Amino acid sequence: MTDNASPPGAIDALQWENRRFPPSAAFKNDTLAAGTFLYDEADADYQGFWARQSADLLDWAKEWHTICEWELPFAKWFVGGELNVSFNCLDRHVLGGRGDRVAFYWEGEPGDSRVVTYAELLDETQRFANVLKDLGVGKGDRVNIYLPMIPEAVVAMLACARIGAAHSVVFGGFSANSLRDRINDAEAKVLVTADGGFRRGDVFPLKPVADEALADTPSITGVVVVRRGGNEVEMEAGRDHWYHDLIGAADPVCVAEPMDSEQLLFLLYTSGTTGKPKGIMHTSGGYLTQVAFTHKYVFDLHPETDVFWCTADVGWITGHSYIVYGPLANGATQVMYEGVPNHPGNDRLWEIIEKYKVTLFYTAPTAIRTFMKWGAAEPEKHDLSSLRLLGSVGEPINPEAWMWYQEHIGGNSCPIVDTWWQTETGAIMISPLPGATTTKPGSATFPLPGIGAELVDEQGDRVEHGGGYLTLTRPWPSMLRGIWGDQERYRETYWSRFDGRYFAGDGAKLDSDGYLWLLGRVDDVMNVSGHRISTTEVESALVAHPAVAEAAVVGATDPTTGQAIIAYVTLRGGAAADEQELRAFVGEEIGHIAKPKTIYFTPDLPKTRSGKIMRRLLRDVAEGRNLGDTSTLADVNVVSELQRRAAETPPDD
Ligand code: WT7
Repeated sequence: MTDNASPPGAIDALQWENRRFPPSAAFKNDTLAAGTFLYDEADADYQGFWARQSADLLDWAKEWHTICEWELPFAKWFVGGELNVSFNCLDRHVLGGRGDRVAFYWEGEPGDSRVVTYAELLDETQRFANVLKDLGVGKGDRVNIYLPMIPEAVVAMLACARIGAAHSVVFGGFSANSLRDRINDAEAKVLVTADGGFRRGDVFPLKPVADEALADTPSITGVVVVRRGGNEVEMEAGRDHWYHDLIGAADPVCVAEPMDSEQLLFLLYTSGTTGKPKGIMHTSGGYLTQVAFTHKYVFDLHPETDVFWCTADVGWITGHSYIVYGPLANGATQVMYEGVPNHPGNDRLWEIIEKYKVTLFYTAPTAIRTFMKWGAAEPEKHDLSSLRLLGSVGEPINPEAWMWYQEHIGGNSCPIVDTWWQTETGAIMISPLPGATTTKPGSATFPLPGIGAELVDEQGDRVEHGGGYLTLTRPWPSMLRGIWGDQERYRETYWSRFDGRYFAGDGAKLDSDGYLWLLGRVDDVMNVSGHRISTTEVESALVAHPAVAEAAVVGATDPTTGQAIIAYVTLRGGAAADEQELRAFVGEEIGHIAKPKTIYFTPDLPKTRSGKIMRRLLRDVAEGRNLGDTSTLADVNVVSELQRRAAETPPDD
């Protein structure tokens, strides 16, 4: 079905999806938000709406006097208010008699496990807060965290929050150089790391990598090392300390002092496509309000009975907002898993869901497409009937991947929430409310209550139907407060393209029912004979073919059409398809104009460590250039293999 009604200067919309899934009667029966009351309240007064959510979801030590101070592009929320984020995530649950509730069922990759209650998490957080103080960390200082997915990562983050220090978590897969640059940009005083962690059956070193970084990080005066991998490490006397030694000797009481609502809670570095990583700043009261709100209503959290599992690493924003702050503020019980999804077998995640009777499961499209590649027999080995809701985040989810997720993981009985947001937005912005929204596979549906999102064309004029640039029209509580040390870059990056609007860098389309469909980064939009075609739409058409598990599409310079569509395709296990067949299939699905000129078959696609396809590198390959920056690539071999093959068959053959 085609409907090419985008205005000139916008992005063409080639494909429309009309399958619909209203919430089931069973789900609606016990949901927190059926009907439109949250939207109605927020439409009437969005700031008042957030103020009520904040009062409802959080404990404030001192009430604010102004809900929002907005001087574009700088916002302050709940001005004058005071709260302690770690008190909200821990103490109040324990004081309320819920100390024995499980905060984390932690599952180590080798098969070891730990159960951590809220009372235990509070105890260890207080001790570690005192450890940090003893190491000279105070309010306003920065602490770097470079850890595997172990409970100590959560403890370290909450201990910082408790004393008003900002954490900067660096994902454990990053190199020594990346760690060094992030430590130096933040001028962190202390680094919390581990000897190593487990990944795909092996121990990967962290402290030895950190040591390389530490050779050139003058601000660091103390290093705390958690024992996890058991690998040999060197400890520098006076600077390096074992976590277990310090915790054992620490004072068990650290009172949670109230902090200003705008106290810096953390920095999180995001690389973007070019340039030096940006230290995205998030603060306390507004951030905690929106992560708690979205965690509660988007996932329909019933904290007494649900078991929530977000598969992200704490090193990404998804882990910050939906493993640490949102779920803990809401008193949720969670699963936390240390390792990869295919160790020891391709069914590890399904085994964990069965073991802990997970009810709410939140993962990324890249993972879902990998599960498709491994085949439905893997989840079929396990009882997944505890699941009652599924979520997706990180990239556009192709309609066929959505359908596969619904059928093979959700047993056709779980609503799917496709949640659009960014490191910069801090919390979910566009998503269904599962008991209220009729979903369509591949659409993130509507802005959440209180959020203003609109599409515009190149001139900044509103697009009401078809493709355009996704912008946010008003401040939101968990919005970034800027870029650490470079507020000019903040204004320039996010607020200069369209007057008065935050531009997120993403394209999207609106269908005639007002549903939003994310089309990927606008840098990825291709221009073929004057048609502006999103890579996402062509990829989704390819993934709709029964033999295809995953596809990446790029535009390569072409003498006749400006750009030509080049596709890289991974087939499902045991399936076969050839280039002509797939080209014809895309032609039928979305039209002749979108047929790839060349299709390469590959067992893997180049991805960032957080699982996003690196189309920029594929463009380099397709255009026969030397590769640009490969430092964020998870596996360099994948591209060198593609380069080798491209050299054998130039795209013009
Ligand atoms: C970019 C932000 C948000 C946490 C993980 C990524 C893409 C994210 C979706 C979605 C389509 C999505 C966007 C966005 N993205 N969620 N549901 N549908 N695209 O955080 O690394 O800051 O990346 O991820 O392109 O701008 P991030």
